[in-house]
Amino acid sequence: MTALYATSIASLPLLAKGKVRDTYIVDDKTLLMMTTDRLSAFDVVMNEPITDKGRVLNQMSNFWFDLLKDVVPNHLTGIDPLTVVTPAEALQVKGRSVVVKRLKPIMVEAVVRGYIIGTGWKDYQATGSVCGIALPAGLQLAEKLPEPLFTPAAKAAVGEHDENITFEQVVELIGADLANQIRTVSFELYRKASEYALTRGIIIADTKFEFGLDDDGVLHVMDEVLTADSSRYWPADEYQVGISPPSFDKQFVRDYLETLAWDKTPPAPALPAQIIEATAAKYREALFKITGQTLEAL
Ligand SMILES: Nc1ncnc2c1ncn2[C@@H]1O[C@H](COP(=O)(O)OP(=O)(O)OP(=O)(O)O)[C@@H](O)[C@H]1O
Ligand SMILES: [Mg+2]
Repeated sequence: MTALYATSIASLPLLAKGKVRDTYIVDDKTLLMMTTDRLSAFDVVMNEPITDKGRVLNQMSNFWFDLLKDVVPNHLTGIDPLTVVTPAEALQVKGRSVVVKRLKPIMVEAVVRGYIIGTGWKDYQATGSVCGIALPAGLQLAEKLPEPLFTPAAKAAVGEHDENITFEQVVELIGADLANQIRTVSFELYRKASEYALTRGIIIADTKFEFGLDDDGVLHVMDEVLTADSSRYWPADEYQVGISPPSFDKQFVRDYLETLAWDKTPPAPALPAQIIEATAAKYREALFKITGQTLEAL
């Protein structure tokens, strides 16, 4: 199977091309969401596809949607994606697509952090807090936080970085009721997912959820959940406070990019073949470690 960098579904109108997903309109209420093999890092899309990444993310997300379905409704309709395209388009769609409810996106990225790492760690070192939330002194790199933190970001327009905002700003944007509901649901999704992941020997250091509302105003989790793109996964047996744990998620390629003199604005640097291959392997490893599943046959 060759990698898919960009989709072309001529039988449906295109709604949007995101960094990773291409979305087509099926009808007023439903969308076809296809996960491509594109990789974005630091919000810049790399030029090379990562073979099987789209299928891995799609399968991972579906696994988590099912495991977490009692916490909050999700956007999946259960409609077979092959029924909404022509036979000639089946090959593109298979294994990487879902038919979803068309929701009104809430323009807030719901980030939950259980451990202090990445930008959270940088913020803490500079200010003693993370996104304005004061933390105890003396925390070490990668340490488990006393309680998980909700550190929302405003969803950025294409080509721009998401911007961290305070909970009060979320309230201003979407109202107190919805803001509180999103925070509560995000904590519960994270709690349940982390508990499960630990049974597989995995720590979920942090993750990001996106939500939308249906026509009746019911909150749904949408986009992707707990994939290796939206989460930091660490092997529990190698976890040690004070050092940056090895990860089997997008961090691998971020670490490579940090070795370059690249300013993290487009154009993306070329990825060497061995980095592409190792990244593809990391994604497949993540799928197996978390779900116990290998890629579904096409
Ligand atoms: N059920 C849904 N209804 C409406 N829009 C959705 C639904 N699920 C996902 N989306 C939106 O579709 C787009 C999916 O594209 P993609 O995942 O590539 O996102 P992105 O915003 O470009 O990047 P990133 O996820 O890294 O922030 C996002 O804008 C997401 O908010
Ligand atoms: Mg997305």
